[in-house]
Amino acid sequence: MHIYIHIPFCESKCPYCAFGSHSDQFAITKEYFKALTKEIKNIKFNDKISTIFIGGGTPSSVDARLYDEIFEYLRPNLNNDCEITSEANPNSANLKWLNHMRELGVNRLSLGAQSFNEKKLKFLGRIHNSKRVFKAVEDAKIAGFKNINVDIMYGTKLDTKALISSEIQALKELEITHISAYSLMLESEFSSKISYQKDSPILAKYLINSLENIGFNQYEISNFGQICKHNLSYWQGDDYYGFGAYAVGTIGLKRYKGATNLKNYIANPFKKSIEKLSLEDKRSERVFLGLRSIIGVSLSDLSSNMQKTAEILIKERKLILKNGRIYNPNFLLADEIYLYLSQP
Ligand SMILES: C[S@@+](CC[C@H](N)C(=O)[O-])C[C@H]1O[C@@H](n2cnc3c(N)ncnc32)[C@H](O)[C@@H]1O
Ligand code: SF4
Repeated sequence: MHIYIHIPFCESKCPYCAFGSHSDQFAITKEYFKALTKEIKNIKFNDKISTIFIGGGTPSSVDARLYDEIFEYLRPNLNNDCEITSEANPNSANLKWLNHMRELGVNRLSLGAQSFNEKKLKFLGRIHNSKRVFKAVEDAKIAGFKNINVDIMYGTKLDTKALISSEIQALKELEITHISAYSLMLESEFSSKISYQKDSPILAKYLINSLENIGFNQYEISNFGQICKHNLSYWQGDDYYGFGAYAVGTIGLKRYKGATNLKNYIANPFKKSIEKLSLEDKRSERVFLGLRSIIGVSLSDLSSNMQKTAEILIKERKLILKNGRIYNPNFLLADEIYLYLSQP
Protein backbone atom coordinates (compact mmCIF):
# COMPACT_ATOMS: atom_id res chain seq x y z
CA MET A 1 0.00 0.00 0.00
CA HIS A 2 1.09 3.56 -0.72
CA ILE A 3 0.21 6.79 1.04
CA TYR A 4 0.25 10.43 -0.03
CA ILE A 5 -0.15 13.15 2.63
CA HIS A 6 -0.78 16.74 1.54
CA ILE A 7 0.47 19.77 3.48
CA PRO A 8 -1.22 22.84 1.96
CA PHE A 9 1.00 25.55 3.50
CA CYS A 10 3.86 27.53 1.93
CA GLU A 11 5.94 30.40 3.26
CA SER A 12 5.15 32.30 0.10
CA LYS A 13 3.14 31.49 -3.00
CA CYS A 14 5.27 31.20 -6.15
CA PRO A 15 3.54 32.85 -9.11
CA TYR A 16 3.93 29.84 -11.44
CA CYS A 17 2.54 27.26 -9.02
CA ALA A 18 -0.94 25.72 -9.31
CA PHE A 19 -0.53 23.25 -6.42
CA GLY A 20 -3.04 23.39 -3.56
CA SER A 21 -1.13 25.63 -1.17
CA HIS A 22 -1.63 28.81 0.84
CA SER A 23 0.78 31.29 2.39
CA ASP A 24 -1.82 33.06 4.54
CA GLN A 25 -3.33 30.14 6.49
CA PHE A 26 -0.64 29.33 9.06
CA ALA A 27 -3.03 30.29 11.86
CA ILE A 28 -4.93 27.05 11.24
CA THR A 29 -2.04 24.58 10.97
CA LYS A 30 -2.88 22.93 14.32
CA GLU A 31 -6.53 22.41 13.35
CA TYR A 32 -5.42 21.14 9.95
CA PHE A 33 -3.12 18.51 11.49
CA LYS A 34 -5.84 17.49 13.93
CA ALA A 35 -8.21 16.82 11.01
CA LEU A 36 -5.43 15.14 9.00
CA THR A 37 -4.48 12.86 11.91
CA LYS A 38 -8.15 11.98 12.42
CA GLU A 39 -8.53 11.09 8.74
CA ILE A 40 -5.44 8.86 8.77
CA LYS A 41 -6.33 7.14 12.04
CA ASN A 42 -9.71 6.21 10.60
CA ILE A 43 -8.04 3.72 8.25
CA LYS A 44 -7.19 0.20 9.38
CA PHE A 45 -4.37 -0.82 7.07
CA ASN A 46 -4.71 -4.43 5.94
CA ASP A 47 -1.59 -4.37 3.77
CA LYS A 48 1.81 -3.16 4.91
CA ILE A 49 2.72 0.34 3.74
CA SER A 50 5.62 0.35 1.29
CA THR A 51 5.86 4.06 0.46
CA ILE A 52 4.76 7.35 2.02
CA PHE A 53 5.08 10.70 0.28
CA ILE A 54 4.51 13.91 2.23
CA GLY A 55 4.03 16.61 -0.36
CA GLY A 56 2.52 19.99 -0.78
CA GLY A 57 2.65 22.83 -0.51
CA THR A 58 5.66 22.79 1.74
CA PRO A 59 5.87 20.14 4.47
CA SER A 60 8.87 21.96 6.02
CA SER A 61 6.87 25.15 6.53
CA VAL A 62 5.27 23.65 9.67
CA ASP A 63 6.72 22.45 12.99
CA ALA A 64 8.02 18.88 12.54
CA ARG A 65 6.39 17.84 15.84
CA LEU A 66 2.99 18.17 14.15
CA TYR A 67 3.80 14.90 12.32
CA ASP A 68 4.46 12.92 15.53
CA GLU A 69 0.99 11.45 16.07
CA ILE A 70 0.63 10.48 12.41
CA PHE A 71 3.90 8.52 12.47
CA GLU A 72 3.05 6.95 15.82
CA TYR A 73 -0.10 5.55 14.21
CA LEU A 74 1.50 4.51 10.92
CA ARG A 75 4.71 2.98 12.34
CA PRO A 76 3.38 -0.53 13.15
CA ASN A 77 2.02 -0.78 9.60
CA LEU A 78 5.25 0.09 7.79
CA ASN A 79 7.25 -2.36 5.70
CA ASN A 80 10.84 -2.71 6.92
CA ASP A 81 12.15 -1.02 3.78
CA CYS A 82 9.36 1.56 3.56
CA GLU A 83 10.44 4.57 1.47
CA ILE A 84 9.29 7.72 3.29
CA THR A 85 9.75 10.96 1.37
CA SER A 86 9.08 14.48 2.51
CA GLU A 87 9.20 17.50 0.26
CA ALA A 88 10.80 20.61 1.70
CA ASN A 89 11.72 24.15 0.80
CA PRO A 90 15.42 25.08 1.23
CA ASN A 91 14.37 28.10 3.26
CA SER A 92 12.57 26.17 5.99
CA ALA A 93 14.40 22.82 5.89
CA ASN A 94 16.70 23.71 8.79
CA LEU A 95 18.73 21.21 10.82
CA LYS A 96 16.16 21.09 13.64
CA TRP A 97 13.29 20.26 11.26
CA LEU A 98 15.42 17.76 9.32
CA ASN A 99 16.65 16.00 12.47
CA HIS A 100 13.11 15.58 13.76
CA MET A 101 11.77 14.25 10.45
CA ARG A 102 14.70 11.83 10.23
CA GLU A 103 13.94 10.63 13.76
CA LEU A 104 10.32 10.03 12.77
CA GLY A 105 11.57 7.73 9.99
CA VAL A 106 11.58 9.97 6.92
CA ASN A 107 14.40 8.55 4.77
CA ARG A 108 14.11 10.50 1.53
CA LEU A 109 14.16 14.28 1.20
CA SER A 110 12.92 16.21 -1.83
CA LEU A 111 14.05 19.82 -1.92
CA GLY A 112 12.56 22.41 -4.25
CA ALA A 113 15.58 24.34 -5.52
CA GLN A 114 14.24 25.28 -9.00
CA SER A 115 17.52 26.96 -9.95
CA PHE A 116 20.99 27.97 -8.78
CA ASN A 117 20.98 31.18 -10.80
CA GLU A 118 20.06 34.18 -8.65
CA LYS A 119 18.37 36.01 -11.54
CA LYS A 120 16.24 32.98 -12.44
CA LEU A 121 15.32 32.40 -8.77
CA LYS A 122 14.09 36.01 -8.52
CA PHE A 123 12.30 35.69 -11.85
CA LEU A 124 10.47 32.62 -10.51
CA GLY A 125 9.57 34.51 -7.33
CA ARG A 126 11.55 32.17 -5.05
CA ILE A 127 12.37 33.35 -1.53
CA HIS A 128 15.75 31.60 -1.19
CA ASN A 129 19.11 31.97 -2.90
CA SER A 130 21.27 29.17 -4.25
CA LYS A 131 23.54 29.20 -1.18
CA ARG A 132 20.51 28.23 0.90
CA VAL A 133 19.99 25.11 -1.27
CA PHE A 134 23.60 24.04 -0.64
CA LYS A 135 23.12 24.62 3.09
CA ALA A 136 19.86 22.62 3.17
CA VAL A 137 21.51 19.66 1.39
CA GLU A 138 24.49 19.84 3.76
CA ASP A 139 22.14 19.90 6.78
CA ALA A 140 20.10 17.02 5.35
CA LYS A 141 23.28 14.93 5.16
CA ILE A 142 24.20 15.90 8.73
CA ALA A 143 20.71 14.79 9.81
CA GLY A 144 21.42 11.41 8.18
CA PHE A 145 19.53 11.64 4.88
CA LYS A 146 21.23 9.48 2.27
CA ASN A 147 18.55 9.67 -0.39
CA ILE A 148 18.13 13.29 -1.47
CA ASN A 149 16.26 14.71 -4.45
CA VAL A 150 16.48 18.25 -5.75
CA ASP A 151 13.79 19.73 -8.03
CA ILE A 152 14.78 22.15 -10.73
CA MET A 153 12.70 23.90 -13.36
CA TYR A 154 13.69 24.79 -16.91
CA GLY A 155 12.02 26.36 -19.92
CA THR A 156 11.78 29.86 -18.47
CA LYS A 157 12.59 32.66 -20.90
CA LEU A 158 15.97 33.06 -19.14
CA ASP A 159 17.11 29.50 -19.92
CA THR A 160 19.93 28.99 -22.39
CA LYS A 161 22.40 26.14 -22.87
CA ALA A 162 24.94 28.10 -20.80
CA LEU A 163 22.47 28.60 -17.94
CA ILE A 164 21.49 24.93 -18.00
CA SER A 165 25.17 23.94 -17.92
CA SER A 166 25.63 26.02 -14.78
CA GLU A 167 22.57 24.33 -13.18
CA ILE A 168 24.07 20.92 -14.00
CA GLN A 169 27.42 21.93 -12.50
CA ALA A 170 25.69 22.96 -9.24
CA LEU A 171 23.66 19.73 -9.14
CA LYS A 172 26.86 17.73 -9.60
CA GLU A 173 28.52 19.53 -6.69
CA LEU A 174 25.59 18.71 -4.39
CA GLU A 175 26.34 14.95 -4.51
CA ILE A 176 22.72 13.85 -4.28
CA THR A 177 20.92 10.71 -5.45
CA HIS A 178 18.02 12.04 -7.53
CA ILE A 179 17.02 15.02 -9.66
CA SER A 180 13.56 16.03 -10.83
CA ALA A 181 13.75 18.47 -13.73
CA TYR A 182 10.38 19.97 -14.62
CA SER A 183 9.64 21.92 -17.74
CA LEU A 184 7.81 25.06 -16.61
CA MET A 185 4.08 24.68 -17.19
CA LEU A 186 1.74 27.56 -16.67
CA GLU A 187 -1.96 27.63 -16.02
CA SER A 188 -3.36 30.37 -18.24
CA GLU A 189 -4.02 32.84 -15.42
CA PHE A 190 -0.31 32.88 -14.53
CA SER A 191 0.98 33.13 -18.08
CA SER A 192 0.89 36.89 -18.12
CA LYS A 193 3.08 37.11 -15.01
CA ILE A 194 5.86 34.80 -16.19
CA SER A 195 6.89 34.14 -19.73
CA TYR A 196 8.41 30.86 -20.76
CA GLN A 197 9.76 29.11 -23.79
CA LYS A 198 7.01 26.94 -25.13
CA ASP A 199 8.21 23.76 -26.81
CA SER A 200 11.91 23.95 -26.42
CA PRO A 201 12.85 20.36 -27.28
CA ILE A 202 16.47 21.32 -27.99
CA LEU A 203 17.01 22.64 -24.48
CA ALA A 204 15.14 19.68 -22.98
CA LYS A 205 17.33 17.21 -24.89
CA TYR A 206 20.44 19.14 -23.86
CA LEU A 207 19.37 19.01 -20.20
CA ILE A 208 18.62 15.27 -20.34
CA ASN A 209 21.97 14.47 -22.00
CA SER A 210 23.83 16.63 -19.51
CA LEU A 211 22.15 14.93 -16.53
CA GLU A 212 22.93 11.51 -17.96
CA ASN A 213 26.56 12.60 -18.49
CA ILE A 214 26.90 13.30 -14.76
CA GLY A 215 25.47 9.88 -13.91
CA PHE A 216 21.73 10.53 -13.48
CA ASN A 217 19.84 8.13 -15.72
CA GLN A 218 16.46 9.29 -16.91
CA TYR A 219 13.72 6.87 -15.80
CA GLU A 220 10.73 9.12 -16.44
CA ILE A 221 10.21 12.25 -18.46
CA SER A 222 11.14 14.51 -15.49
CA ASN A 223 13.01 12.11 -13.17
CA PHE A 224 16.65 11.04 -13.00
CA GLY A 225 18.81 8.92 -10.72
CA GLN A 226 17.87 6.51 -7.94
CA ILE A 227 14.28 5.47 -8.69
CA CYS A 228 11.60 6.87 -6.37
CA LYS A 229 9.45 3.85 -5.47
CA HIS A 230 6.46 6.02 -4.64
CA ASN A 231 6.35 7.66 -8.06
CA LEU A 232 6.90 4.32 -9.73
CA SER A 233 3.81 2.99 -7.94
CA TYR A 234 1.66 5.84 -9.38
CA TRP A 235 2.88 5.18 -12.88
CA GLN A 236 2.18 1.45 -12.49
CA GLY A 237 -1.40 2.25 -11.53
CA ASP A 238 -1.13 0.87 -7.96
CA ASP A 239 -3.70 1.81 -5.31
CA TYR A 240 -2.83 4.62 -2.92
CA TYR A 241 -4.51 6.57 -0.17
CA GLY A 242 -4.47 10.36 -0.44
CA PHE A 243 -4.84 12.14 2.90
CA GLY A 244 -5.46 15.85 3.40
CA ALA A 245 -7.03 18.78 1.61
CA TYR A 246 -6.42 18.65 -2.15
CA ALA A 247 -4.99 15.12 -1.84
CA VAL A 248 -5.99 12.64 -4.51
CA GLY A 249 -6.17 8.91 -3.81
CA THR A 250 -7.08 5.92 -5.96
CA ILE A 251 -8.45 2.66 -4.61
CA GLY A 252 -9.56 0.22 -7.29
CA LEU A 253 -11.85 2.05 -9.67
CA LYS A 254 -12.51 4.92 -7.26
CA ARG A 255 -10.48 8.14 -7.49
CA TYR A 256 -11.23 10.66 -4.77
CA LYS A 257 -10.06 14.13 -3.79
CA GLY A 258 -10.13 15.97 -0.46
CA ALA A 259 -11.81 19.37 -0.03
CA THR A 260 -10.01 22.26 -1.69
CA ASN A 261 -11.03 24.69 1.01
CA LEU A 262 -9.05 24.26 4.24
CA LYS A 263 -11.90 25.24 6.55
CA ASN A 264 -14.21 22.72 4.84
CA TYR A 265 -11.53 20.04 5.11
CA ILE A 266 -11.06 20.75 8.82
CA ALA A 267 -14.84 20.64 9.36
CA ASN A 268 -15.06 17.23 7.66
CA PRO A 269 -11.84 15.51 6.54
CA PHE A 270 -13.83 12.50 5.30
CA LYS A 271 -15.78 14.41 2.67
CA LYS A 272 -14.35 13.57 -0.74
CA SER A 273 -15.32 14.28 -4.29
CA ILE A 274 -15.40 10.94 -6.08
CA GLU A 275 -14.67 10.05 -9.67
CA LYS A 276 -15.60 6.56 -10.86
CA LEU A 277 -12.96 5.16 -13.18
CA SER A 278 -13.72 2.58 -15.83
CA LEU A 279 -11.36 -0.29 -16.68
CA GLU A 280 -10.79 1.58 -19.95
CA ASP A 281 -9.70 4.73 -18.01
CA LYS A 282 -7.20 2.65 -16.02
CA ARG A 283 -5.91 0.96 -19.16
CA SER A 284 -5.36 4.21 -21.06
CA GLU A 285 -3.61 5.72 -17.99
CA ARG A 286 -1.25 2.73 -17.93
CA VAL A 287 -0.46 3.29 -21.63
CA PHE A 288 0.04 7.05 -21.21
CA LEU A 289 2.22 6.75 -18.08
CA GLY A 290 4.10 3.71 -19.35
CA LEU A 291 5.24 5.64 -22.42
CA ARG A 292 6.63 8.43 -20.20
CA SER A 293 8.73 6.09 -18.06
CA ILE A 294 10.89 2.99 -18.04
CA ILE A 295 7.81 0.97 -17.03
CA GLY A 296 6.72 0.59 -20.65
CA VAL A 297 3.37 -0.83 -21.72
CA SER A 298 2.10 -4.39 -21.85
CA LEU A 299 0.94 -5.33 -25.36
CA SER A 300 -2.22 -6.67 -23.69
CA ASP A 301 -3.08 -3.08 -22.71
CA LEU A 302 -3.19 -2.07 -26.38
CA SER A 303 -6.33 -2.50 -28.49
CA SER A 304 -5.82 -4.46 -31.72
CA ASN A 305 -5.82 -1.16 -33.62
CA MET A 306 -3.16 0.26 -31.29
CA GLN A 307 -1.09 -2.91 -31.64
CA LYS A 308 -1.06 -2.47 -35.43
CA THR A 309 0.09 1.16 -35.09
CA ALA A 310 2.68 0.10 -32.49
CA GLU A 311 4.11 -2.40 -35.00
CA ILE A 312 4.84 0.48 -37.40
CA LEU A 313 6.63 2.40 -34.64
CA ILE A 314 8.59 -0.71 -33.64
CA LYS A 315 9.78 -1.10 -37.25
CA GLU A 316 10.83 2.55 -37.25
CA ARG A 317 12.64 1.94 -33.92
CA LYS A 318 10.55 4.63 -32.22
CA LEU A 319 9.35 1.91 -29.83
CA ILE A 320 11.23 -1.14 -28.57
CA LEU A 321 9.51 -4.49 -28.06
CA LYS A 322 10.83 -6.74 -25.28
CA ASN A 323 9.11 -9.69 -23.59
CA GLY A 324 5.58 -8.64 -24.51
CA ARG A 325 6.04 -5.00 -23.51
CA ILE A 326 6.79 -1.91 -25.56
CA TYR A 327 9.26 0.68 -24.33
CA ASN A 328 9.67 4.29 -25.45
CA PRO A 329 13.34 5.22 -25.88
CA ASN A 330 12.57 8.98 -26.02
CA PHE A 331 10.23 10.10 -23.23
CA LEU A 332 10.03 13.60 -24.74
CA LEU A 333 7.97 12.05 -27.55
CA ALA A 334 5.60 10.25 -25.15
CA ASP A 335 2.58 12.51 -25.76
CA GLU A 336 2.95 12.35 -29.55
CA ILE A 337 3.34 8.57 -29.51
CA TYR A 338 0.29 8.22 -27.27
CA LEU A 339 -1.80 10.36 -29.65
CA TYR A 340 -0.49 8.44 -32.66
CA LEU A 341 -1.36 5.09 -31.05
CA SER A 342 -4.81 6.35 -30.02
CA GLN A 343 -5.90 7.53 -33.46
CA PRO A 344 -8.92 5.62 -34.76
C1 LIG B 1 5.31 20.93 -4.01
S1 LIG B 1 6.67 21.63 -4.82
C2 LIG B 1 8.15 21.17 -3.87
C3 LIG B 1 8.43 21.65 -2.45
C4 LIG B 1 8.33 23.12 -2.09
N1 LIG B 1 6.97 23.51 -2.13
C5 LIG B 1 9.16 24.01 -2.96
O1 LIG B 1 8.65 24.50 -3.96
O2 LIG B 1 10.33 24.23 -2.60
C6 LIG B 1 6.86 20.48 -6.13
C7 LIG B 1 7.67 20.88 -7.34
O3 LIG B 1 6.83 21.09 -8.47
C8 LIG B 1 7.50 21.87 -9.42
N2 LIG B 1 6.54 22.83 -10.00
C9 LIG B 1 5.66 23.61 -9.33
N3 LIG B 1 4.94 24.36 -10.19
C10 LIG B 1 5.38 24.05 -11.45
C11 LIG B 1 5.05 24.49 -12.77
N4 LIG B 1 4.14 25.44 -12.97
N5 LIG B 1 5.72 23.94 -13.82
C12 LIG B 1 6.66 22.98 -13.62
N6 LIG B 1 7.02 22.54 -12.40
C13 LIG B 1 6.39 23.06 -11.32
C14 LIG B 1 8.66 22.56 -8.70
O4 LIG B 1 9.87 22.05 -9.18
C15 LIG B 1 8.43 22.17 -7.25
O5 LIG B 1 9.64 21.98 -6.57
S1 SF4 C 1 6.41 25.79 -5.82
FE1 SF4 C 1 6.44 24.96 -3.77
S2 SF4 C 1 6.83 26.79 -2.44
FE2 SF4 C 1 6.17 27.56 -4.39
S3 SF4 C 1 3.94 27.82 -4.12
FE3 SF4 C 1 4.28 25.81 -5.12
S4 SF4 C 1 4.28 24.37 -3.45
FE4 SF4 C 1 4.61 26.44 -2.55
